[in-house]
Amino acid sequence: MTLQPVPELQHRTVLLEEAVDALAIAGERADGVYLDGTFGRGGHSRAILARLGARGRLIAFDKDPLAIATAQQIADPRFEIVHDSFATLDEALAARGIAQVDGVLMDLGISSPQVDDAARGFSFRLDGPLDMRMDTTRGVSAADWLATADEQTIAKVIRDYGEERFALQIAKKIVARRAVEPISSTRQLAALVAQAVKTREKGKDPATRTFQAVRIFVNQELEELEIGLEKAFRQMAQHGRLVVISFHSLEDRIVKQFMASKAHAPQPDRRLPIRAADLPRPAARLLGRVKPGDAEVTANPRARSAVMRSIERLEAAGAQP
Ligand SMILES: C[S@@+](CC[C@H](N)C(=O)[O-])C[C@H]1O[C@@H](n2cnc3c(N)ncnc32)[C@H](O)[C@@H]1O
Repeated sequence: MTLQPVPELQHRTVLLEEAVDALAIAGERADGVYLDGTFGRGGHSRAILARLGARGRLIAFDKDPLAIATAQQIADPRFEIVHDSFATLDEALAARGIAQVDGVLMDLGISSPQVDDAARGFSFRLDGPLDMRMDTTRGVSAADWLATADEQTIAKVIRDYGEERFALQIAKKIVARRAVEPISSTRQLAALVAQAVKTREKGKDPATRTFQAVRIFVNQELEELEIGLEKAFRQMAQHGRLVVISFHSLEDRIVKQFMASKAHAPQPDRRLPIRAADLPRPAARLLGRVKPGDAEVTANPRARSAVMRSIERLEAAGAQP
């Protein structure tokens, strides 16, 4: 099936000014190389381009073919779009002969046009094919995975990525149901989950956790985040900035731990006679944690769970392993 964009579905960029400010695109750095790991509908990318100098470059990534179609409409010689995961950013840079980047932005998760398009299968509120792939040109859909995975694996995914107490009960329902008929729609999955989840969380549909879990698994979101963070930092120039917006605690934990690991130098054995000047220095400095203000959350309720963290690289790439 070829996907068609639904023109009325828009994405409201979260923490637009804050994220682009955190990249510190000014002075000499305006002619640097920046990566937008998650183009979406290009809200951040356009704001980055507005601040870039004439010799600056912006290379954006997205897994979603409809995001790519939007990006291809940007006619700016400083801009390029790559249809791939940001986890492959090293290959994209090597192919262009670029050794170092000055800033990397990742605005994680899915965009509103993805959630709000029933044909993508991300939403338990809309009935559609149970797909959930960001990149519909490759990989295994949620329906195909649920048709073949064993009960223990399904339960583990729902428990680990959805932090769902009723994971095993949900997995049992899925396995029992698929023996009768294929589970191919979002509505079928939401209904099975509702039968298995015995307690209700205030303001939360019982399917929320399971849909989040299956989506994370189908798109390998946490693995790609870990790879992307490492690769981004490895290629970061001195004073380069890494800025990441996450939308749930599993992502934020990975980002927080990654940034902390770069901002804290390994401590040598205290019994060793090492002068202060010779102590290992941290590779990065934390720039803090930012959440959307009340006005943004009121205007865009999806911003509610966003957390932005950023760091600045202190040593040039290659100076430390
Ligand atoms: C929250 S939206 C980004 C919105 C964007 N900042 C804007 O202002 O329009 C996340 C986007 O990142 C894409 N995405 C998520 N994980 C990705 C990954 N590992 N590599 C590339 N794109 C990814 C999704 O397909 C989606 O289009």
